[in-house]
Amino acid sequence: MMNCILICLLCGLYGVLAKDKERKGKYSIPILDVKTQQLVLDTNQTLLLSCRGRWELTWAFPPGLARDKVRVEESRCGRTSQQYCSRVMVSRSQAQHTGTFRCRYQHRPRKQTSVYVYVTDSQQPFVEQPGMSPDVLYLKEKQPLVIPCRVTHPNVTTTLVRFPNQSLSPDQWNIIWNSKQGFTIQTPTVHNIGLFFCQTITDGVTHKSHKYFVHRPVSNIMDVYLNSSGPVQALKGTKLTLNCTATGELNTRVNITWDYPGKSNDAGSTSKRLLKHRTHILFYSILTIPELHRSDRGLYKCRVTSGEKTKQQNVTVTVYDRPFIHLKPRHGTVMEVQAGQKSYRISPKLKAFPAPEVIWLKDGMVAAEQCSRYHMNGNSLVIRDVAEEDAGKYTVLVRIQEHGLYQNLTLTLVVNVSPQIGEKAVSLQDPGSVPRGSKQALHCTSHGVPPPHIQWLWHPCPSKGLPAAPRA
Ligand SMILES: *[C@@H]1O[C@H](CO)[C@@H](O)[C@H](O)[C@H]1NC(C)=O
Ligand SMILES: *[C@@H]1O[C@H](CO)[C@@H](O)[C@H](O)[C@H]1NC(C)=O
Ligand SMILES: *[C@@H]1O[C@H](CO)[C@@H](O)[C@H](O)[C@H]1NC(C)=O
Ligand SMILES: *[C@@H]1O[C@H](CO)[C@@H](O)[C@H](O)[C@H]1NC(C)=O
Ligand SMILES: *[C@@H]1O[C@H](CO)[C@@H](O)[C@H](O)[C@H]1NC(C)=O
Ligand SMILES: *[C@@H]1O[C@H](CO)[C@@H](O)[C@H](O)[C@H]1NC(C)=O
Ligand SMILES: *[C@@H]1O[C@H](CO)[C@@H](O)[C@H](O)[C@H]1NC(C)=O
Ligand SMILES: *[C@@H]1O[C@H](CO)[C@@H](O)[C@H](O)[C@H]1NC(C)=O
Repeated sequence: MMNCILICLLCGLYGVLAKDKERKGKYSIPILDVKTQQLVLDTNQTLLLSCRGRWELTWAFPPGLARDKVRVEESRCGRTSQQYCSRVMVSRSQAQHTGTFRCRYQHRPRKQTSVYVYVTDSQQPFVEQPGMSPDVLYLKEKQPLVIPCRVTHPNVTTTLVRFPNQSLSPDQWNIIWNSKQGFTIQTPTVHNIGLFFCQTITDGVTHKSHKYFVHRPVSNIMDVYLNSSGPVQALKGTKLTLNCTATGELNTRVNITWDYPGKSNDAGSTSKRLLKHRTHILFYSILTIPELHRSDRGLYKCRVTSGEKTKQQNVTVTVYDRPFIHLKPRHGTVMEVQAGQKSYRISPKLKAFPAPEVIWLKDGMVAAEQCSRYHMNGNSLVIRDVAEEDAGKYTVLVRIQEHGLYQNLTLTLVVNVSPQIGEKAVSLQDPGSVPRGSKQALHCTSHGVPPPHIQWLWHPCPSKGLPAAPRA
């Protein structure tokens, strides 16, 4: 027992010595003049802190202390003025100034010393800035939840209240109280969502802290889509707007980020919107690039993240320098088709931007008005049940009127018709018997495209008598 005390004393002594050595010697961290870890001040008292170090110093103050309420004096100090000193003065300390004061090296802010200052005020036991209620706290599974109702006096006893009147007292195990932090719930559950506040009774008066709304974000993104399924084409100098929409379950919160070629030079700006439905939420992010440059062409990605989940959509954007029409025949200017074919498509190669107006003419007249078997499909002309009369000159007129661009192309369609013998159409007459030696004319009318070649063949009659000599 005695030994232990002795050892502990020695250890403590050694610790103090080591610390002193460090202070006097290296100043690896700046040193504050206050030797305690916390100070307790009264309202309106002056706070004075001095800090000393080997390099230039800087301070970090509690969030409730406005910079203009602090006076900082810098000087060189030490025997040869090789050290840096900094003095902080807050002449009228207020409850909301309660918090950690840190002195650190400017070039290495992690090298720091701190002191926690309480500014007691019996009227204001909780440290809070006006106009911040209610705060939203996000409950994350398996992470402690902190209800930050810090207090202005180290010995204040508080209770945590879940609205309207469920009290939760510190239990040193799951609910832990710390006057510098507030309440920590070590393993929060879904029962810990709702409205919370802290409460203390001083001199018979009940004081309540801010209200904190504890919210459990659900991270379930159901769908992400861009309002352009295919590639986007645009002209240089014009505006590009893309709309990224994400749907999520109620309570979901998402971050929508864009990646695009011009992002590094801030070519675009985004705006957000949220639309709540009964069963889900819609999140919109609209990316606008006010004036497209060539360098803006490429892949645009919209990434939606919620907690650990990520979904992404992307679209390619092409930027054209100027409007254009490229029009040429696909396979020569003369096309052939067989009459009777179910359908035939005339489709020249056409690329144009912006989308042109396309008109088809047949022999100089609007095709669709000439025959009900003609109709447009995309930029092509489709002929149904091809007939001989469909042969002719087809002209496609392409124009982009707003930019004064016009082009046309004329193609010739040849319709091949299988040869037909006219006499076969009418009922074939038996020429009957004719006197031998008489002159007879036999007629054959034929038709076809291209014109058919006619050849006569003679077959002897199989049965009786002599056959008639054929004459062409
Ligand atoms: C602090 O000083 C102000 C102005 O002098 C005074 O009105 C206020 O009552 C003082 N507060 C306390 C707690 O002494
Ligand atoms: C807080 O309570 C402790 C022990 O009860 C006491 O020693 C200390 O002085 C109190 N602190 C203040 C600032 O009143
Ligand atoms: C407090 O809670 C109890 C149930 O625990 C309820 O009966 C009572 O009405 C509540 N009081 C107030 C003021 O809400
Ligand atoms: C684009 O975003 C707006 C929100 O500003 C939304 O109302 C609209 O439906 C969206 N359009 C498309 C096509 O997604
Ligand atoms: C996408 O939506 C925005 C905003 O609703 C609209 O201005 C833009 O033209 C749309 N873009 C495309 C490619 O549909
Ligand atoms: C959104 O991004 C911020 C900062 O990157 C992050 O703190 C926050 O948790 C993210 N929110 C979601 C819902 O992912
Ligand atoms: C673009 O998105 C599609 C579908 O979301 C994906 O399959 C593809 O890999 C993406 N492309 C790039 C380059 O990210
Ligand atoms: C087709 O273009 C030529 C010049 O490229 C023009 O002379 C002709 O009039 C145009 N035809 C029609 C029908 O527009």
